[in-house]
Amino acid sequence: MKLVKLLANLGYGSRKEVQRLIRSGAVTDDEGNVLGENEVPAHECIFFRGEELDPPSPLVIMLNKPDGYTCSSEDPGSTIYDLLPPRFAHRNPGLNPIGRLDKDTTGLLLMTDDGKLLHKIIHPKSECHKVYQARLDRPLEGHEGELFASGTLILNSETRPLLPARLEVLGEKEARVTLHEGRYHQVRRMFAAAGNHVLDLRRISIGGLAMPENLEEGDWRILDAGEVAAIFGSKD
Ligand code: URA
Repeated sequence: MKLVKLLANLGYGSRKEVQRLIRSGAVTDDEGNVLGENEVPAHECIFFRGEELDPPSPLVIMLNKPDGYTCSSEDPGSTIYDLLPPRFAHRNPGLNPIGRLDKDTTGLLLMTDDGKLLHKIIHPKSECHKVYQARLDRPLEGHEGELFASGTLILNSETRPLLPARLEVLGEKEARVTLHEGRYHQVRRMFAAAGNHVLDLRRISIGGLAMPENLEEGDWRILDAGEVAAIFGSKD
């Protein structure tokens, strides 16, 4: 790929802007030699204003999503893209969330620019179950586990029953729920169907990949190949 296209695809600017940047000497190799438009060394040997280039596609990142951020790039309020380097919102192919979280749901959010990987992870056949921890308004009554596991629960305004889900009781008003699909507001609506109300909701794992304890809220990092493989590593 030509240098202009490579940098434009990584979000460094429009093709015209990138062309200007290259001509101004902003792009060098690992020895500090200014690169021209027709020179394209290995990705790791290209530097922009002295800094390594952003990673190429395919890119997979994990974000510890805080409360109050939407998973859309269109929202006029705070979005998950505000938590990433600004260039990441302008990459081509685009960096998209792998299964959205509600604005007020926190925890593990994966994002990728690899469409095939995205679909593989969200496809029920991959069995990348998602685990959520919920804090509830009212004490659990004891019937919720059976209801969620039944495979017959139909949410309001839907016709197709939910796949069986697992409930683990963590406390009087706290539970862990394992889902094998991702419907709109699913956990909140499941507890509503059981006569309760979710106060806080946090996703703690996707497939075999758990949120690491050392990733602070609002922080993100790139996944390595082993971590991407781990997503598919644990079947329920
Ligand atoms: N279920 C919900 O209700 N909300 C989420 O964000 C994810 C699952």
